Amino acid sequence: MENSLLIVHHDTGIAIVQFNRPEVLNALNMALMAELVDTLEALDKDDDVRCIVLTGNEKAFAAGADIKEMAGATAIDMLHRDQFARWDRIRKVKTPIIAAVSGFALGGGCELMMTCDMVVASETTRIGQPEINIGVMPGAGGTQRLTRAVGKVKAMEMVLTGSMITADEALQWGLVNRVVPVEVFLDEAKALAREIASKPPVAVRLAKEAVLRSFDTTIEGGLEFERKNFYMLFASEDQKEGMQAFVEKRKAEWKGR
Ligand code: HXC
Repeated sequence: MENSLLIVHHDTGIAIVQFNRPEVLNALNMALMAELVDTLEALDKDDDVRCIVLTGNEKAFAAGADIKEMAGATAIDMLHRDQFARWDRIRKVKTPIIAAVSGFALGGGCELMMTCDMVVASETTRIGQPEINIGVMPGAGGTQRLTRAVGKVKAMEMVLTGSMITADEALQWGLVNRVVPVEVFLDEAKALAREIASKPPVAVRLAKEAVLRSFDTTIEGGLEFERKNFYMLFASEDQKEGMQAFVEKRKAEWKGR
């Protein structure tokens, strides 16, 4: 499947979704975001896709929302566009999403990266929330997800100065899972995606859901939610198969049921 704003490749068990606006460092205009959300939702319904990799190119994951598209907008235009409502739908995708990041991940690009479940970054990655430099502030989760990921003082510095951090800083701060040479960042992300795709799919989905729930609830509510998902997995054929295979010292064969 190929079109102007996104390129989608299927590989065994995984799908790779690549932004295709290299001439503007993959600036996230509304058309691209609409296509992205529709694509992610369609992949989420495809049983053959067990993990999604979201990527840009070596130079940019995405340099933010499209500034030229927003520049002349009034507050009421922004209210009517309600473009960030679309971003909420990404959070509801049940299939794990790995961001494969290189070069700039700025503003909305950083926010999109943080909406993904895991991040593989190249050594050339530069991450920031530079909105302050153009008279605004993060609008798609930057003040919330960044603060939860790196803590108040670091988030405050990034949001109030707009300065970028390096891949190594992002690793130390817990914003990315691993940093690898630029030549292999996509391959590494695909390898991680394949590993997840090899796991029992129902357990993967319910586990992802439970981890994400920790952001929205108290510890008590989260533990309750986790427990229900854990019990529910005992209704799956994969639980019977997984435990039986362990007992019989053989490799489990997952059915996704
Ligand atoms: C529109 C963008 C863009 C963006 C880059 N371009 N970022 N266009 N929106 N966010 C375009 C440039 O205008 C230019 O087009 C081309 O991409 C190459 O960019 P250059 O600036 O020439 O490249 P370089 O000198 O290497 O500088 C790279 C850069 C810089 C440091 C990343 O482009 C930059 O500061 N970009 C803006 C980053 C930013 O402020 N992001 C936050 C946006 S607000 P032309 O036509 O001139 O060749 C945001 C709000 C979030 O994200 C709200 C939720 C979505």
